[in-house]
Amino acid sequence: MCGIAGYVGNKLSMPIVLNALSSLEYRGYDSAGIAVNEFGKIIIEKSEGKLGNLKSKVNNKLISSSCAIGHTRWATHGEPNKTNAHPHKDFGYNFAVVHNGIIENYNALKRKLKKENIKFYSDTDTEVIPHLLYLETKNKKITTNLMINALHNVVKQIKGSYALAILVKDLPDYIFIAKKQSPLIIGLGKNENFIASDVSALLSHTNNTIYLNDDEIGFITPNEIKIFNAHLKEVKFSVTKLTLQPEQVMLGNYKHFMEKEIDEGSKSIYETVKELQRNRTLHKIPVSVIKNCSSIHITACGTALNAGMIAKYILERDCRVPVFLDCASEFRYKNPIINENSLCIFISQSGETADTLACMELCKSKNAFCLAITNVVGSRITRLADFCIFTVAGPEIAVASTKAYVAQITALFCFVKAVARLNKKTLDYNEKDIIEVSKMLAEHDYKKELNDLVKKIKNKESVYFIGRGIDYFVALEAALKLKEISYIHCEAMAAGELKHGSLALITNNTVVIVILTQPDLIDKTLNAIYEIKSRGAFVVLFSQFKDCAKYVDYFVELKNTKASLMPLIASKPIQQLAYFTAIEKGNDPDKPRNLAKSVTVE
Ligand code: G6P
Repeated sequence: MCGIAGYVGNKLSMPIVLNALSSLEYRGYDSAGIAVNEFGKIIIEKSEGKLGNLKSKVNNKLISSSCAIGHTRWATHGEPNKTNAHPHKDFGYNFAVVHNGIIENYNALKRKLKKENIKFYSDTDTEVIPHLLYLETKNKKITTNLMINALHNVVKQIKGSYALAILVKDLPDYIFIAKKQSPLIIGLGKNENFIASDVSALLSHTNNTIYLNDDEIGFITPNEIKIFNAHLKEVKFSVTKLTLQPEQVMLGNYKHFMEKEIDEGSKSIYETVKELQRNRTLHKIPVSVIKNCSSIHITACGTALNAGMIAKYILERDCRVPVFLDCASEFRYKNPIINENSLCIFISQSGETADTLACMELCKSKNAFCLAITNVVGSRITRLADFCIFTVAGPEIAVASTKAYVAQITALFCFVKAVARLNKKTLDYNEKDIIEVSKMLAEHDYKKELNDLVKKIKNKESVYFIGRGIDYFVALEAALKLKEISYIHCEAMAAGELKHGSLALITNNTVVIVILTQPDLIDKTLNAIYEIKSRGAFVVLFSQFKDCAKYVDYFVELKNTKASLMPLIASKPIQQLAYFTAIEKGNDPDKPRNLAKSVTVE
């Protein structure tokens, strides 16, 4: 949902900010732009489309400025064209502004500004900010104090979310910043400082960071950082040392991040289990929270939601705890039954997804215990939660989640184990089994086995996935993965539901991919296979049960493990199927159209 970056120091700022934007492109790639302050003159360059367009445009222009801000956009207000691209400015080019978030009352602010004879050139919500800053500072001598007061007055008027970085014509060595709900991190250097939406953009420069809190504003110069709270009181900040390595956000020998991240899935399972064991994390959850909880509520979006479904199933089936699961965008609006005895679990790779965070705030207001499962230390979710379980997948860059998905399932399996222990229930797996699975995943690659299937489906308009029980949740994730990067219409169905309508869609050569990993569901799933086969479908089976291969047209053999853990085994071939299909179709698997990785707007 838009990435912002900035640099002020003693080096040429433009290449540094363009590089930082490359690391943030996963947040949006509808357009990109950069603004520099060249000795008291603001210059802005923007391009429609991916960052590459902007890079080739400014390639030969070595603007000799050491202060710049940049933006990569995921459009919310206004078409993804050059005019709507950030940075935005006032008419006198006094200010250049980049913004991540949504200004919900921008129409009211626009009306107010129009009364002051201010004309708008774009359809964005962001454009109100430079104009508001202009009004606040009109006919006044621009000083640091004046700017902080002006910014304070401007953000007071904004309803919504924002991470802002602002260049000021008359203060060439300053970047002003403000944050509410959208992430903003300062990177500390020697005679230089940085800002970015995400640490991945800072890693190659510094390990020392400051996470801005909501409602804080401030500025950075090459040698100074000042942060103020909502009452304009200067804030003492603490420096967080990053442990990430720059290689973790680089492609290395891979062509795409998605390919690299699928490969890293096994490691992320292993590291997640080991880290939870090392820190005894699950033993630290207050026993009363699990023992006294009347119900568990799991809330998440996208792939994280699909991971949550697996946990719900096992928690109910084996631990006998009632679990409610909702996608975050729906949960808030159904007046959920939550109280101080509810255990609310929020799963989010980024820890910044706006819908998920809004649900957590709601549950907190009802005094429920809020537990976050996230991959990003320091993310907003970690600061709101009562307790955090960290997945150890490392930075995930490709928009389609892969290694974070298996790490989420792993963390959830470990959490379910803790619940089972306290409730004196038995499960069919333990942590050792999960480690075994991680090894199995590392050993096997499905490229060859999937080759002909990829050719078969690449030109299909639709592909259907079916499964029963846990396999249905795997089917949902398989369909999500394939549709988001191949652009083929994909739908997952509970195998038994086919005959209640969807069977009407099955004709000669319709591709149906069946997930079958649960021994107790073989017969019933085979019934569904017979039904679709007799309607002429081309049936693909992902299963460890070799005996079933004879009933289908295409068989992908899975390794075998404890039944509950099979979603981890099935994850790799379903992710690779999506990846290879996208490649075969000439799509960019890392940056699927219209999507962004971190959805920081509701
Ligand atoms: C976006 C991403 C998905 C992700 C979802 C939730 O839609 O494209 O891959 O699953 O957001 O993100 P989160 O960071 O909360 O897990």
